[in-house]
Amino acid sequence: MSTTLVKNGTIVTASDRYEADVYIDKGVVSLIGRGISLPADTIVDASGKLVMPGGIDVHTHLDMPFGGTTSSDDFETGTIAAAHGGTTTLIDFAIQNFGEGLYPAYESWMGRAEGKSVIDYAFHMIVRELSEQASHDMDKLVRHDGITSFKLFMAYPGVFQVDDATIFKAMKRTRENGGLVCMHAENGGVIDTLVQEALKRGEKAPKYHALTRPTRAEGEATGRAIALAEMAGVPVYIVHLSCHDALEKVKQARDMGLPAYAETCPQYLFLSYDDYEKPGFEGAKYVMSPPLREKWHQDSLWKGLQKNDLQVVSTDHCPFCMNEAHQKLLGKDDFSKIPNGAPGIETRLYLLWDGGVRQGRIDAHRFVELVSTSPAKMFGLWPKKGTIAVGSDGDLVLWDPEKETTLGLASMHMRVDYNPYEGRVVKGGPAVVISRGEVIVDHGEFKGKKGRGVYVKRQAGHPLVP
Ligand code: URP
Ligand code: ZN
Ligand code: ZN
Repeated sequence: MSTTLVKNGTIVTASDRYEADVYIDKGVVSLIGRGISLPADTIVDASGKLVMPGGIDVHTHLDMPFGGTTSSDDFETGTIAAAHGGTTTLIDFAIQNFGEGLYPAYESWMGRAEGKSVIDYAFHMIVRELSEQASHDMDKLVRHDGITSFKLFMAYPGVFQVDDATIFKAMKRTRENGGLVCMHAENGGVIDTLVQEALKRGEKAPKYHALTRPTRAEGEATGRAIALAEMAGVPVYIVHLSCHDALEKVKQARDMGLPAYAETCPQYLFLSYDDYEKPGFEGAKYVMSPPLREKWHQDSLWKGLQKNDLQVVSTDHCPFCMNEAHQKLLGKDDFSKIPNGAPGIETRLYLLWDGGVRQGRIDAHRFVELVSTSPAKMFGLWPKKGTIAVGSDGDLVLWDPEKETTLGLASMHMRVDYNPYEGRVVKGGPAVVISRGEVIVDHGEFKGKKGRGVYVKRQAGHPLVP
């Protein structure tokens, strides 16, 4: 194992900014100081760059069977793209099969990632049935295997949706075992009824995906999830929060002192319902759940990020190709058959820096907090990940505030045939990306190796985020 010295940079963490060198020994930061002159196998000049902790994306779906197909990025292509975008750790969702406990899913996702992932990875577990076996496995996963969070769905009837009793029981179980429930909060019964009615009226185009998933359905489910968590006496984390209605529920709960947390994603900050009105089948590019909302919701979400009612920005990366037969085209004549999801694993930091820091909505410290430190603290990775400190993993992104990038297929590495932000010019981007001391991206060139990423066991316990 080698040593790496990052010289002459400006360190920016969630709390601090100072000029210093960083010395990484066997993958771990061992010294931070001015003018370090120790010999090193690799020396990286960070002059003019901000040295920040590597991004942590806590919501990805790589190689995921869904909607009659499989997400188009696997753990090799998806993590290479993530690395190019400055992300050095991700948490993906393993999915319990019906009729099974949780361990077959854990092993299956381990099989997908091991030997392929180029960055470090961990898993949440999607619980579809809370059998005796599954309840027992929840405890064991938390205590022995570092899977400390469980996603439950209030939508997708027949596929993922579970009833309130199941959610409540799972939450009570996390009270005992120290896990955290992550909630897909949309009212599946209401949405399914609206979808069936729309199809009967002959409304088949992609935009009806959004028109049958009202913001109230997200707000109602978010409020219900928080109430269930309050009754169970546990924290809850709302995933991919998209709208003002849902944010209000989180805000009210937090104002009451309840441990309610939520993430949003760049698509809800930068894209809107208008994208569904694009001609032909174009709108399918943006079919995801929750859907894109009217533009005015974006202001609420930015306020939520500023005031810490939203604590994390993740991607919900779940790409499907537009022009491959068994991907988005599955829903050519019926919006309800379009696989839900969009790419974003590579564009998160670019977008949040350009639209957040450069536009004066958040500062660089809040940026680090949203994309790295709070994700790590929320999901049991901190202080190993999510900060730059002696003893932390040497996961760094050397950020060039002057770098200009045109987001799109030509500049990005995700294995999917469109980019939702095609043509958008952003300023600020990763120059060098370092994972456990190893340079894995150097000015746009991938230097890592397939399979070099390792599984990270996470710690259980109450989220460390305020
Ligand atoms: O449309 C989405 N969000 N696809 C991924 C699955 C999920 O609900 O997160
Ligand atoms: Zn979801
Ligand atoms: Zn998701």
